[in-house]
This record gives sequence, C-alpha cells and structure tokens, in this order.
Amino acid sequence: MRSIVLASGKGGVGKTSIAINLGLILSQQGKRVVVVDADVSMANVGIMLGIERAPISLHNVLMGETNIRDSVYEGPFKLKYVPSSLSVERVNKLVFDRLKSAIEDLEPIADFVLIDSPPGLNKDSEYAIMAAREILLVVTPDPASLADALKVINFAGRNNISISGIVVNMSLGDKGEIKSSDLETLLSARVLVVIPEDVEMRKSTIAQSPLIVRKPSAKSAQAIRVLAARLTGDPVSEAPRVKKGFLQRILDSIGGIFRKKK
Ligand SMILES: Nc1ncnc2c1ncn2[C@@H]1O[C@H](COP(=O)(O)OP(=O)(O)OP(=O)(O)O)[C@@H](O)[C@H]1O
Ligand SMILES: [Mg+2]
Repeated sequence: MRSIVLASGKGGVGKTSIAINLGLILSQQGKRVVVVDADVSMANVGIMLGIERAPISLHNVLMGETNIRDSVYEGPFKLKYVPSSLSVERVNKLVFDRLKSAIEDLEPIADFVLIDSPPGLNKDSEYAIMAAREILLVVTPDPASLADALKVINFAGRNNISISGIVVNMSLGDKGEIKSSDLETLLSARVLVVIPEDVEMRKSTIAQSPLIVRKPSAKSAQAIRVLAARLTGDPVSEAPRVKKGFLQRILDSIGGIFRKKK
C-alpha cells in the first residue's frame, strides 16, 4: 500500500480536486484507492463527490469510536473514500495521533491511500502529513504559494516522508509564471506535471460532479492522467472518445461528400 498526502502551503491550490480526480483515474485503472478527507474542518471530499450524507466519518475514527474500515464509502468508479463530518463542534476534541495508525489499518483494502490535507502548516496539516509515507506537494506557479510550500517540504523531510514530487496547478502558461526548473531547484523535488487553469475544473466543483466523471476529455483531466502515470510508472491512460453531436455528424458527412467529389 502507498499512502500519499496531498499538501500545500497556500490554501485553494487544488489539493482536494486533484486527490479526488487522481483517485478516480487510479480506480478506473483497477487499483484499489481510498481517498481520506483529513481536512476535518472543511469536509470537502464528500461535497465534491456530491455525496454529503455520511453517518460515520473520520471524526468517529479519530475519537476512537470506530475502526477506519467502517467509515469507508464508495463513490464513482468504485473509488473508496473516508469522509470528514461537517459538525464543527467536535473538531477540537479529535485525537489526531490516531490518524497514522488508522491509515495503516487500510492496508488490507487499499493499493493507494490519498490523504487530502488542510492548507498551511498547522497541527491538523502536520498530522495529515505525518500519517503518510509519501507527499505530493501541490503549488500554483506564483511566489505567494512558494514560501509556505518550502516549509511544508522541509517538515516532510524532517519527518522522513519521501517526496514523490511537485504538482503545479492552475498554470496559465504565462511567461511570468515561475518555471518548473526553478521550482525544482528551490524545492529540491521533481515537478511531475503541470495542470493548466481550466474552467471545466471549476464547473465540476460547482456541479458537485468530479471532472473525471463529468468531463473526462478536459485538458486538466488529461494532465491528471499524466500525474497518475508518473506515480504508477504505467503508460498514460487514454481519454475516452468524445461523442460527436448531431450537427457535427452531419457536417462531417457533408465534408465527406465534397472530399469524394475532388
Ligand atoms: N486546474 C484548475 N483550473 C481551474 N480551477 C481549478 C483548478 N484546480 C482547482 N480549481 C478550482 O479551485 C478551487 C479550489 O480547489 P480545491 O478546493 O481543490 O483546493 P484546495 O487546495 O483543496 O483548497 P483548500 O486549501 O481550501 O482545501 C475550486 O473551485 C476548484 O474547482
Ligand atoms: Mg481542500
């Protein structure tokens, strides 16, 4: 089992979106994947999957009330996930030391555990990072995301978490953006993929329907397939064929008639 935490310095860089869509791709490839929502105050994984009701959550596990395997739910493409709960009043009482051993308890049912961490470097995110064996650092290509990313990577290094690499998200491809080579030098880790800024990703969040389910042909979905391949060493999986609309089929056949005449 590989346990990988998606962490960042800055908030809102795309950790949860990438964790879910990466999980869906690996699941589609037949891997047993569990996404664990360790962002206990936001509980975004269930929301983004469009499945909000979860009577048993990671909270119950951290409170010592249940085994983590009893809090595993199934989403699209057989993706398994452990949700957090939205009941904020219990968060302070949670015992985060339990997270690491809870993640290890998933070993019999998982090839990959993807841990979605809270932003920043605070107690909650530190425990989420320490619960994993590997870290994927998610950054955006702007200076503001880098100072904190450096702190996160140093923290992971001090705790012997191996650095699987950097994911650059929301790239506009502008010349002013920080270059991947500079990021690699600064953070002493490899850039695995650059995911473009893509309105389809935002639409998926709003629609509460993951990108890989709603729009698997999107350019950001293709980039996440590349990320999956970098992690597993398998070839990049193919995007499903886009079904042509009625009008496009007619235009194609008219074009075919003209070509034949030439
Ligand atoms: N490549 C992208 N292009 C455009 N929008 C994106 C991209 N990746 C993520 N987003 C959008 O950015 C917003 C924040 O994403 P997400 O919640 O996944 O970030 P996060 O790092 O988990 O945030 P937090 O730190 O608050 O947990 C969402 O609206 C999401 O749709
Ligand atoms: Mg998040």
